[in-house]
Parts: sequence; C-alpha cells; structure tokens
Amino acid sequence: MNLKITLLPGDGIGPEVVSAAVEVMKVAAEKFNVTLKFNEQLAGGCSYDKFGKPLTEETLSACYDSDAVLLGAVGGYKWENLPQNLKPEAALLGLRKALGLYTNIRPAKVYSALLSSSTLKPEVIEGTDFVIFRELTGDVYFGEPRGFDENKGWNTMIYTKEEVVRIARSAFEVAMKRGKRVVSVDKANVLDCSQFWRKVVHEVHKDYPEIELSDMYVDNAAMQIVRNPKQFDVILTQNLFGDILSDIAAMITGSLGMLPSASLGTKYALYEPVHGSAPDIAGQGKANPLATISSVAMMFAYSFQMYKAAELIEAAIDKTLSMGYRTADIYSPGTNLVSTKQMKDAVIENFNQVYDEQALGVFTL
Ligand code: IPM
Ligand code: MN
Repeated sequence: MNLKITLLPGDGIGPEVVSAAVEVMKVAAEKFNVTLKFNEQLAGGCSYDKFGKPLTEETLSACYDSDAVLLGAVGGYKWENLPQNLKPEAALLGLRKALGLYTNIRPAKVYSALLSSSTLKPEVIEGTDFVIFRELTGDVYFGEPRGFDENKGWNTMIYTKEEVVRIARSAFEVAMKRGKRVVSVDKANVLDCSQFWRKVVHEVHKDYPEIELSDMYVDNAAMQIVRNPKQFDVILTQNLFGDILSDIAAMITGSLGMLPSASLGTKYALYEPVHGSAPDIAGQGKANPLATISSVAMMFAYSFQMYKAAELIEAAIDKTLSMGYRTADIYSPGTNLVSTKQMKDAVIENFNQVYDEQALGVFTL
C-alpha cells in the first residue's frame, strides 16, 4: 500500500511533536509493508510570516491530494493581535471547513501508569473510557453574521438539520461498536439552536433503537465529567461545547499533552493533538509527543483500517509510561523525566518489542 501524508507541523512545539510522531509512523509503516510519502507544508503563524496568510492554496491542494493530514499545532503570542482571518487559528478553521471535517473525535481514556498524575483522585478516573464526538464545521465558529464594532460584538449560533444529522449518525455508528450509550450535550434550556439540535438528534436516534440516548445541559456535563467520568461512553455535542468539554476531559488523562484527535469528513481526514502550540516551551525539547503519536494511531485505524498497527502504537505508549518515562507535563516524583526525543525513542523501542511479542504470540491484543 502506498500512502500520501501531508504534514503541517505549524507553530511552537508543533514541529517537535510532528517529527517525533513521523518517526514512529515510519517504523510502524515498515513493519506493516506500507510505503509512506510525506509532503510538508506551512500552516498557521509560520505561513503568515512567509506568505502573509495562515493558509495558502498550495497547502490546501497538498491536503486535497493526500490520504491523510497530520497537524502539530498553530498559534502563538506573536500573532495574537492580528485580525481573526489572519490569525494562525484561521488556518485550522479554514482546513476544517475546506476539507469538510465535520466529525471531531476526541477520546478520553486513562493510562493506568498516569492514574496519579491527574489532579483528580485515582479512584474517580480509574477505568474511564469515553469519546467526545464534537461537531466541527458549524455553530458560532462559522455562523454569520459575526463581527464587532466600537459598541458591540456578535456571533451567530446556527445549525442546519443536515449538519446535526450527519454528526449524530457518526456518533451513533461508533456507539454501536462501543457501549451503546450516547449523551447528547446542549444548552436547550436557553438556546433555540440547542433546542433544535436536541430535536434532530432524537429523530436520528429512531434509526438506532439499541442505543440508550440521554440529554445533558453543557454546564451539568462539565460538572459530571469531573465528578464521575466513568458514567460516559459517547458524548455527542456542538462545536463550541465540544471545544470546552474536551479540554476538561484532557485532565482525566493527566495532561492536555496526552489527548489525540481525529477530524473526519466524507472524503478527507486530519489528525492532530488536542493541545496547542505551547510557545513558552517551544524549541526546548520538553514537549510531550504522546498525543501526536496517539493521533497517528488514530490515523492508522480510521483512515487506513490498519487496526493492528494502531493497537500496537497504543500498546507501546502504554508500556513506555509503565516504565516510568515522563515528559515535564506528566512528571511526578519517582518517575523518569525525559525529553521529547527520549520519549519518542522509548516508544519506538517498545513498539518494536510489542510487535515482536505479538508476532510470537506472547502478546495478546
Ligand atoms: C481546538 C482548538 C481550536 C478550536 C482553536 C485553535 C481554533 O482549541 O482544536 O480545540 O477552538 O477548535
Ligand atoms: Mn480547544
């Protein structure tokens, strides 16, 4: 199999975590007889600095011409005062819209070795395994009109029926393969748009009678995720609420540096860590590459149906953490503080090991 991957390292720690993940990808691809062809392009602040805009036609056409896109992170203090459409973040939003990536999947699962790195009590988070389905191309993020003048600022929260139907279907389909429980999160007690969302989600649910569907207001959901995260299987929610809830969910895994994501449409797919560009630690070799490496595992599973490769990457991450390797964001006394590169090297070594073990039948997935 020949696969074309567009790399968008972006800003801050983006290039460091992407190059670490690419090395893991190469090792895995070789084991599974896949040939990867990489095309690296600029997106975000780095693109603005060179071309005066965060997302160019060249970058977009590279994405259209690839089997999957891997993005690091975009943004930084340097570009904070630019108008919205020139900010690095506009590259990400532009990519999501142009590639039609309406389903954003953000899994929140606990690695047992990290139980004590979360600020939440181990007994509260142990065994947590849920996934957030965040709608990614609608809501206030894209609604018109939007703007501000001297006296007011405004945005429009809007969803069409088609937009709600397709994300609801994505969530129900995956829930069928998991615990068959979906919680749809909205603010239907206040917002008309959310009331509409709820109505449409229930209509779609009629096609999935085996699924237990419940509704939750977003303020309550934020509280429930930290109170008792084990109650969730699939959370289905609007773009803005999903943005906020996925950062909360990240703390279950101990660090935002651990959370991967997949953004899928009908034709294209983009994978990226949930964390940002962390300009304060950029270029110092301190960044945690695990969220990006785990995003690669999602790419293998969702884009290439290489489930075994995906599981082995996850197993390698698990093993590396169990051996005590920690970047600064997940460090605790008694563990082994390592750099981005050392973490990546350990994951590769463990990947090769779990691969050999499963080849011998010692390791069971
Ligand atoms: C995310 C980020 C983005 C978002 C920003 C960078 C535009 O926070 O992917 O969660 O708000 O969607
Ligand atoms: Mn976010």
